[in-house]
Amino acid sequence: MWNRGISVLYSAKEIEDRIREMAAEINAMYAGKPLVLLCVLKGAFMFFSDLAKRITVHPEIDFVRLSSYGNCDNSSGVISFTKDIEITIINKHVLVVEDIVDTGATMDFLCRQLKARGVASLRIAALMDKKERRAFPVKVDFVGFKVPCGFVVGYGLDYAEKYRELPELCLMNVRD
Ligand code: IMP
Repeated sequence: MWNRGISVLYSAKEIEDRIREMAAEINAMYAGKPLVLLCVLKGAFMFFSDLAKRITVHPEIDFVRLSSYGNCDNSSGVISFTKDIEITIINKHVLVVEDIVDTGATMDFLCRQLKARGVASLRIAALMDKKERRAFPVKVDFVGFKVPCGFVVGYGLDYAEKYRELPELCLMNVRD
């Protein structure tokens, strides 16, 4: 414990090692295919950057931003684009890169939207999977870490827009 209410869940080294393994799986899956790597802002920005550096198939890169959680740890239940894709994805293989899949509401919404645009294939790479709270039938194809219930901050993930800069993934006691 190095800060009140926050403890390290995965170190920077553990994250780096896991991302190297994930990238190898992704490179094997998409060898010879036109890939679009799609970053879900803001939470996935560090994961996306570190993962993209290890992708060898020269993907096109784009970003979306969705409103889902707002400034608290409870889902608002209403999801919408606050920034849409700018490149064409029709007939392309799209890999959505997300920080954490919790209830699955966000990925369910995004995947429906992307499928309707005629992608060749659609998969999800998530740094963390909080499967216990899943309420939507979302399959995460590439999982970094399976995490238990609890609120995670750091390595891009925030609590009220703070802690994104931490190089580790940390568990937060939101009652502190
Ligand atoms: P879902 O729609 O319930 O799957 O929630 C997914 C989104 O909620 C993620 O993209 C995060 O922005 C946010 N989220 C879910 N769990 C956490 C967490 O433990 N820490 C920070 N953000 C989270």
